[in-house]
Amino acid sequence: MDCSQDSWPEPVVNVQSLSESGLSTIPDQYIKPPSERPSMQTSEHNQQGIPIIDLSCLIDDVARCPAIVQAVSAACQEWGFFQVVNHGVSEELMDRMQETWRTFFQLPINVKQAYANSPKTYEGYGSRLGIKKGVILDWGDYYLLRLMPASVRSHERHWPTQPCSLREITYEYEKEVAKLCRKLMKVLSISLGLHVDYLQNAFGGEASAGESLRVNYYPKCPQPELVLARSAHTDINGITVLLADHRVGGLQVRKGDAWITVQPSPGALVINIGDQIQISSNSVFKSVEHRVLANSADERISLAFFYSPQNDLPVGPAEELVTPERPALYLPMTYDEYRAYKLKERV
Ligand code: OGA
Ligand code: NI
Repeated sequence: MDCSQDSWPEPVVNVQSLSESGLSTIPDQYIKPPSERPSMQTSEHNQQGIPIIDLSCLIDDVARCPAIVQAVSAACQEWGFFQVVNHGVSEELMDRMQETWRTFFQLPINVKQAYANSPKTYEGYGSRLGIKKGVILDWGDYYLLRLMPASVRSHERHWPTQPCSLREITYEYEKEVAKLCRKLMKVLSISLGLHVDYLQNAFGGEASAGESLRVNYYPKCPQPELVLARSAHTDINGITVLLADHRVGGLQVRKGDAWITVQPSPGALVINIGDQIQISSNSVFKSVEHRVLANSADERISLAFFYSPQNDLPVGPAEELVTPERPALYLPMTYDEYRAYKLKERV
């Protein structure tokens, strides 16, 4: 992690406060150049959408689910994204988690400001990631927490004290989603023709893997056609599990030259491959670009759970996936190094 900079290059304005001020034209600092605006790159005609995979039979034994392995493998090569149903995370808990975080974001801005983050660790309430001055910003606020391993867990002062159940519910959710991630790591390993525990071991083992949560809050925007709620990016971690409101869309996934809109099914979770799995798989599985559109009618909340390798363990392509025809495409790098390197490009 790059710890050299511990403050933002210019004062941070929360997008929520802009949105609630009722302005009808947005400040220049949010207006994307024409080539990056939503309409310019969207070709909506091929609306097949990302695959939905039913994980019911995964509950007890990964190896006995060839159909799941096959479907996941195809999705990870073709889309880098899929939705899962019957994933083992209770719907009731998913609802409570969304409600609890919605309640947090509805608190007065000055209450949330007490948790304002800095680029030193990013933990807490914030609106930007990058530390370059004068860049075009995204139309969204977020809250970031580090959940695991225990040695790097966010300190108590970074946790909202309201609503009072937030921390307990977040950890309940963490337990369930981490279980799902560990299963997916097995499925991904088998799909790559590797030992069932290969990826988990390459990530440093179950006890060392990293888990963090980014709760995104995208306020209403009076000119959604000029902005992005989240610029195009790939996720730098290993696996992302996204819990998004199925009533308010916004997420789009790149497919060739097109941006395909993801409509989460009720009760489903959206899974995507991050850079660390692309690297481990020597690019057999793809960490695909995605972005989020703003909208003028509804606010939107999404919860992104990031599963990542141990921070200080070099991750490189699996030896079995390096051949004379397909040489290693990446040099091993620790997640700490990789994150510091990638964050330099972010807004
Ligand atoms: C992210 C992300 C998508 C969304 O947080 O990395 O891509 O729909 N979120 O909010
Ligand atoms: Ni993302």
